[in-house]
Amino acid sequence: MDQAELDNLVFYNCGPAPMVHAAVKVEKEFCKPGQIYNAIDYMTKCGVGICGACNSPDGRRLCVDGPFLVEES
Ligand code: FES
Repeated sequence: MDQAELDNLVFYNCGPAPMVHAAVKVEKEFCKPGQIYNAIDYMTKCGVGICGACNSPDGRRLCVDGPFLVEES
């Protein structure tokens, strides 16, 4: 795969956190974090951004900021 193809590469991961984190670790060997999008199975309750039940570790809410969150460095 040449550099132009690597620059256009995008990964979408869906599933439980341990699986997504394992996939991201491998994917970062091939692309930048901004090319990786994750939809992790966080618990959702209100679905409108009020309760915080679906917060990712960095505070983004899956229900209103997702379902896919771009990987941060
Ligand atoms: S489910 Fe309540 S903030 Fe996302």
